[in-house]
Amino acid sequence: MAAPEKLSDIVTSFLDIVHDRLISDRRGTVADYIPQLAGADPEQFGIALCGLNGRVYESGDTGVDFTIQSASKPFVYSLALDDQGLDAVHDRVGAEPSGEAFNSVKLEAGTGRPPNPMVNAGAIVTTSLVTGRSPEERFGRILARLSAFAGRDLRVDEAVLASEQESGDRNRALAYLMRGAGSLTAPVAETLDTYFRQCSVLVTARDIAVMGATLANGGVNPVTGERVTSAETCQHVMTIMATCGMYDYAGEWLLRAGLPAKSGVAGGLVASSPGEFGLGLFSPRLDASGASVRGVAAAQQLATRFGLHVL
Ligand code: DON
Repeated sequence: MAAPEKLSDIVTSFLDIVHDRLISDRRGTVADYIPQLAGADPEQFGIALCGLNGRVYESGDTGVDFTIQSASKPFVYSLALDDQGLDAVHDRVGAEPSGEAFNSVKLEAGTGRPPNPMVNAGAIVTTSLVTGRSPEERFGRILARLSAFAGRDLRVDEAVLASEQESGDRNRALAYLMRGAGSLTAPVAETLDTYFRQCSVLVTARDIAVMGATLANGGVNPVTGERVTSAETCQHVMTIMATCGMYDYAGEWLLRAGLPAKSGVAGGLVASSPGEFGLGLFSPRLDASGASVRGVAAAQQLATRFGLHVL
């Protein structure tokens, strides 16, 4: 009788199957509105899955560094929630899917709040709500929070940061609009500098799988055992990821992949299956909503194959 297959081999071989199936998918384009991102190798593709026992299963380019970009937003939102509380944060930023692109200038009529913490405008506000006596201290706390979620010390890509700063006028315009509307009270220049820095933090597909697993695990990093945040905060973060994390693709995403998730324009995509695992995907070619084409397809195939839809 053949030896029984180990679960780890089954999971890894399924990740390999999905990887092989999608490696020939060359749809989409690499982001170039931040010039430094345009040089990414479009062929790179990594899939990592981190179980709540801390085991990480990997296929493809899972150790390649890329900047976290908007995939930082849920984790910084967790810090703002822990610092200020749910009500204080949502006095300043809404909790509604916008149906608009990530860089939309549309603010809520009447309140002047950005629609949610996952679009750029909302993320700029949540970044400003992180406690710190100086911009250095505020960013230090953000980097420590991202690192605790990943289970290792992360660092900033200075070249991408410079590129973000040079090409970030739309984000500055959003910040000035929000200052005018009263939803952003912190100074624009230092808030944007902190936001650009958080977007320029380098991660791998493996890192974001661990970050997603930490959310799925109620705030305890399953690799390091460290409690990063509370189960209640994770519930709030995953709810906002489910409804708003994929911007104007959020509804279709939930229909097809059924998991809380967040995309980033460098090609990262993090998803959390509550009580089950975290998924980290990376491939630089993006669809019209700014999400990795292969990442979206891989997540949908995994979710369908294993019946992972949370709803
Ligand atoms: O602020 C920006 O435009 C970028 N630093 C991040 C945007 C992003 O990742 C959108 N998500 N797909």
